[in-house]
Amino acid sequence: MTDIKTLQQQISAEIDKLQFGTEPKELYEPISYIMSLGGKRMRPLLVLLGYLLKEENAAAVVRQALAVEVFHNFTLMHDDIMDEAPLRRGQPTVHEKWNSTVAILSGDTMLVKAYDLLLEINPKLLPEAIRLFNQTAVEVCEGQQIDMNFEAESQVSVDAYINMIRLKTAVLLGFSLEYGALMAGMAEPGRKQLYEVGVQMGVGFQLMDDLLDVYADQAKFGKQVGGDIISNKKTFLLIKALELATGKEKEALDSWLEKTDFDSTEKVEAVTAIYDQLGIRELTTNLMNSYFDKGFELLDRLDARPEGKELLAGFAAQLMKREK
Ligand code: IPE
Ligand code: IPE
Ligand code: MG
Ligand code: MG
Ligand code: MG
Repeated sequence: MTDIKTLQQQISAEIDKLQFGTEPKELYEPISYIMSLGGKRMRPLLVLLGYLLKEENAAAVVRQALAVEVFHNFTLMHDDIMDEAPLRRGQPTVHEKWNSTVAILSGDTMLVKAYDLLLEINPKLLPEAIRLFNQTAVEVCEGQQIDMNFEAESQVSVDAYINMIRLKTAVLLGFSLEYGALMAGMAEPGRKQLYEVGVQMGVGFQLMDDLLDVYADQAKFGKQVGGDIISNKKTFLLIKALELATGKEKEALDSWLEKTDFDSTEKVEAVTAIYDQLGIRELTTNLMNSYFDKGFELLDRLDARPEGKELLAGFAAQLMKREK
């Protein structure tokens, strides 16, 4: 039986071999750039883990698995424009290093390249794979638009937030697992259950992302700590703080949210201090744990290879302890 490290090495080796194109260089260099910055590369890993729930060796589907990583990197390139993010994986974002038009077009090209990789699967499975992938890709866009809409809204419910992160983040994790299982020939009921495992873990994963955006160690994180606070993102942390704050704290929080002209460092420090006062970190961790737990439960009940289930559960446990 293989292990996570070996699978990660297989994925990285295959990514290193990818060739997207060369001219015009403004189109292709940003693609090589963002792909070479690494990241956790967990979505193709989830594809392989989905595959290993039914099959013993995933070597035959590593390239096909990369479709989800190329797609993910496309979403990041555009997300960084939308979020005005300066840093990605410890390096300048594409729109900062080049400009936004370059980031838009290189991103578009990556979406097409993702389809090229998807096309390499068994032709019999292709219609179903494209149908599932398209549904996922559109949902990611829906989630991203809702996320942007929420920046300008003052009242967002926890339910609306959870739905937003399910769309922008969790469905792609669900798809990744299901896509792997589809390639391995798993029947539909099992695949759907597995998709739901990915969605539950994906919601937990985004809660952790939101938590790290405030509490990560900048040296390890690779993104700008405090970016969500600066842009008034309606994360679970902010929604909960708005709900729990009273008196002077509530006044201070409201006033930071209304300010259009402020010192970023000052705002991040002030809002973080309010989160600390209200115990937001623990509340978020608890909610994150509950989504992961739901994922573990569903996985436990899945009819699949025990070795495969153990690998996936082990990887999810690692994700819950990540620092970036
Ligand atoms: C970042 O995804 C975007 C989210 C959905 C939170 P990752 O945290 O997987 O980013 P990389 O690929 O490891 O850099
Ligand atoms: C992004 O969520 C989700 C997608 C890219 C679709 P975030 O905006 O929180 O991701 P990061 O924190 O920039 O990686
Ligand atoms: Mg975003
Ligand atoms: Mg972002
Ligand atoms: Mg984030």
